Amino acid sequence: MKTFPENFLWGSATAATQVEGAWNLDGKSPSIWDDFAHTPGLVSDGSNADTACDQYHRYSEDAALMRELGMNAYRFSIAWPRIIPTGHGEINQKGLDYYSRLVDTLIANGITPVATLYHWDLPRAIHQSGGWLNRKSVGWFEQYARTVIKALGNRVKYWIPINEPNVHSELGYRHGWHAPASVGGRYTALQVNHHLTLAHGVAARAVKELVSGGIVGTGVNVAAFYPMNHEPRHAEALRRCEQDQTQWYLDPIFKGGYPEEALKRAYDNGDDFFMKKGDDELMFGHTDLLGFNHYFSIWVEESDAHGYQGWNYGKTPEGLEKNAWESVVYPQGFYDCFQRLSVRYKGFPLIVTENGLPDPSDAISADGQCHDVARVGYLRKYVGAMKRALNDGIDIRGYMFWSFMDNFEWAAGYHMRFGLVHTDFQTLKRTVKDSGRLYREIIASQGACL
Ligand code: NOJ
Repeated sequence: MKTFPENFLWGSATAATQVEGAWNLDGKSPSIWDDFAHTPGLVSDGSNADTACDQYHRYSEDAALMRELGMNAYRFSIAWPRIIPTGHGEINQKGLDYYSRLVDTLIANGITPVATLYHWDLPRAIHQSGGWLNRKSVGWFEQYARTVIKALGNRVKYWIPINEPNVHSELGYRHGWHAPASVGGRYTALQVNHHLTLAHGVAARAVKELVSGGIVGTGVNVAAFYPMNHEPRHAEALRRCEQDQTQWYLDPIFKGGYPEEALKRAYDNGDDFFMKKGDDELMFGHTDLLGFNHYFSIWVEESDAHGYQGWNYGKTPEGLEKNAWESVVYPQGFYDCFQRLSVRYKGFPLIVTENGLPDPSDAISADGQCHDVARVGYLRKYVGAMKRALNDGIDIRGYMFWSFMDNFEWAAGYHMRFGLVHTDFQTLKRTVKDSGRLYREIIASQGACL
């Protein structure tokens, strides 16, 4: 079996809201997630992201830990409300300075920075002007993106403009489980996603224009979907589900335009007024890497529950291992994602922008260590599946484990732990978990130990 190439990016990922803390320091304004977390009853454990892991002050310690674990990349996100507190207009130099220090520290530790421009923390002021439902947000985002890219582009080559547009639009603007807690219809979510994809487009162009050797990637959440059984009606449901849940988010960037059949189904009543002439061109191209976050394998059945879509999520087959989210641990699904994406988006190298396992039971034992047995098994199996895909000849450039450390898991608060490093949220002490040590071994052997 072939091992991973020398220049493979072995990293981990976080997001500003989830690790930084310092929510109102040095000129930062509140984001929609600050407001969400400060609203009683919305975060299940009653916590907020005010301090989180305090990476804002402890980034040097964190970068040293990454280096100790042998990682050569770190995917972090930049908080728009730190850079332009009023959303658009005046720039807050102190915000830029923080990321500049972070980037310098990473580089000094031999770690390649991979910067996400938007990981869900919209400035409150933009939300008050309609948020992502307002098409003007695309222009406001462009000002912010260009400011950051100009300031860091001499040192940061890898850029992921938008994290999980599909999850942000669905959970934040349709179901209301995430900030900004808006409950709209599917149509609302599609409109939000459209603007997010345009935002990807304008940022991708800005990277190409402003960064010599700049590399742009996506960060779409991609699940592996399977039909409930071999009946043709479920195969048909699966086909539609893949159009709606995966191709809808990737085709505009990598192929040009939404998948036609899905477009017809979505707008059979003709209300696609938010799409303007020229949008297809704006969303398309300027993107080098197909980056995806992978957490789920899902079985799909024919259903009229979603009306015109004709599909729904069905029951998971019996006997498969489940994680704390009650979703399956199924490395074959990860392998299948590489296969499917490399066929449909032929010619685009793949990069895993996130993959990981929630486990609320991670704790420090009497020996002072964190024996996260489930994550150790998960990491071994999932990187093993990626290695199989690599051996099939698929071009894979990197793997960013979610997460570097336990952090603020959005509406689940601090209860759901994902880290390779354990965080004590009282003392903020970091302790490398068994999974962190396994990752070091995997990286040191370029995957040969699997
Ligand atoms: C994907 C999101 O990008 C990240 O912020 C989140 O913590 C993980 N999924 C786990 O839920």
